[in-house]
Amino acid sequence: MTVASHAGPSRLVVVSNRVALPEQTATGGLASAIGAALQERGGLWFGWSGEVARQTASEVHRQQDGRVEYATIDLSRRDHDDFYDGFANRTLWPLLHYRPDLVDYNRKHLAGYLRVNNLFADQLMSLIGPHDLVWVNDYHLIPLAALLRERGVGNRIGFFLHTPLPAAGLLIALPRHGELLETLASYDLIGLHTPRDRRALEEYFLYEAGATMRHDGRLHTRGGRSFRAEAFPIGIDTRQVAAEGNRADEHEEIHQLRQSLEGRALIIGVDRLDYSKGLPERFHAYARLLERSPALHRKVTFLQIAPPSRGGVPEYRQIRRELERSAGHINGLYAAPDWVPIRYVNNSFPHALLSGYYRTARVGLVTPLRDGMNLVAKEYVASQDPEDPGVLVLSRFAGAAQELTEALLVNPADTEEVAEALERALTMPLPERRERWRRMMDVLEKQDVTAWRNAFLQRLAG
Ligand code: UDP
Ligand code: G6P
Repeated sequence: MTVASHAGPSRLVVVSNRVALPEQTATGGLASAIGAALQERGGLWFGWSGEVARQTASEVHRQQDGRVEYATIDLSRRDHDDFYDGFANRTLWPLLHYRPDLVDYNRKHLAGYLRVNNLFADQLMSLIGPHDLVWVNDYHLIPLAALLRERGVGNRIGFFLHTPLPAAGLLIALPRHGELLETLASYDLIGLHTPRDRRALEEYFLYEAGATMRHDGRLHTRGGRSFRAEAFPIGIDTRQVAAEGNRADEHEEIHQLRQSLEGRALIIGVDRLDYSKGLPERFHAYARLLERSPALHRKVTFLQIAPPSRGGVPEYRQIRRELERSAGHINGLYAAPDWVPIRYVNNSFPHALLSGYYRTARVGLVTPLRDGMNLVAKEYVASQDPEDPGVLVLSRFAGAAQELTEALLVNPADTEEVAEALERALTMPLPERRERWRRMMDVLEKQDVTAWRNAFLQRLAG
């Protein structure tokens, strides 16, 4: 094995670009799930501090919170722009979310991506011990295992992709895709959210990279490496979210929201402001609902919480402008002196408060055009009142739709279908609401974040 200054027993070392530091409200499914999993098991979490410094710092910031140690580094402006705003979020993110039209490829960004991955690998060398399990997360860090292997690391290293993975026919649109994607073979285990994502990875390796499938299900590459790819649908901390929903009354903010509704039914959406979330389509569907059902005017309020995300990327700034216009337009058409149809809020909220907001809502509206899993859908269900649960309207193209089959499943591009589902949700009788909720809750209780983490780590430890 390799050089390692950490001489303690085996630990879990999680690596991801985004780290949910204890004092931050980190929005994003990865940070939510990894945070919950690490708090339970303990370990080290390494990644970007979220800070842009004058130069990429060689210094690692370390802090301890309970059983979790955090080790983070700052990025220089150049590294941040090329790696994070550039290759990760202007090239890979749109590609992985089935948006080749938005893919912006340039070699400078790719070079920055590799530079930051090398930096991560260098820093990790002094943090990992010989027996540690290393768990790398998401599309920012695809080549990290290969770079660690080059440095002599022989530990077991797993990778989890938190986004969808499109079919090989789309992946090959990425220039020099082989050089990047074939580095995935340096991991021992690759986890994806759904069987469809796993099939896409297998097909890529079998048909584009000349790999073969062994009898034991492992993929064997031309370069002599073998690895396993499996679906591990990510879960939430179901008990915790249910408890938070149950304590909704303790928050002044929840009382204020309820009071302000004046008995109207609430529809809620909670999403990072991202084009993959289908927000313009969602606003149109809500407008269509109001158009076709005048009886609902003044009876319903749609609260969309959308914290801004990745503001350095032009497409994100553009969608923000588009939604401001759209919300203004709909309110302009339908608002009355005592009723605002859409409340559009660009802040982020702590989890405990979100759970209270979800519980207040008769309908959870989750309509991404593509999403790896979508934890908001699961959190909405888990925070409901079992006696009087709300209804989830869910995109078929969220990974969560594979498990939450009792939601009202919709194609987010079909405005009419979403409007109909909203109407059905708003008028659904209590026995049906309860039955659907119970079935979804059974799934969430069984496949929670602990089960997800245990399944992945047991497989990785092999
Ligand atoms: N979230 C939050 N505060 C907010 C908005 C979102 O804590 O104001 C959390 C939300 O509770 C969920 C995560 O961010 O756990 C979003 O995960 P999801 O899988 O739905 O989407 P992603 O942002 O990862 O694409
Ligand atoms: C998604 C990605 C995560 C990312 C999160 C928030 O969940 O899969 O890797 O952390 O969005 O995005 P951000 O760019 O703020 O980290």
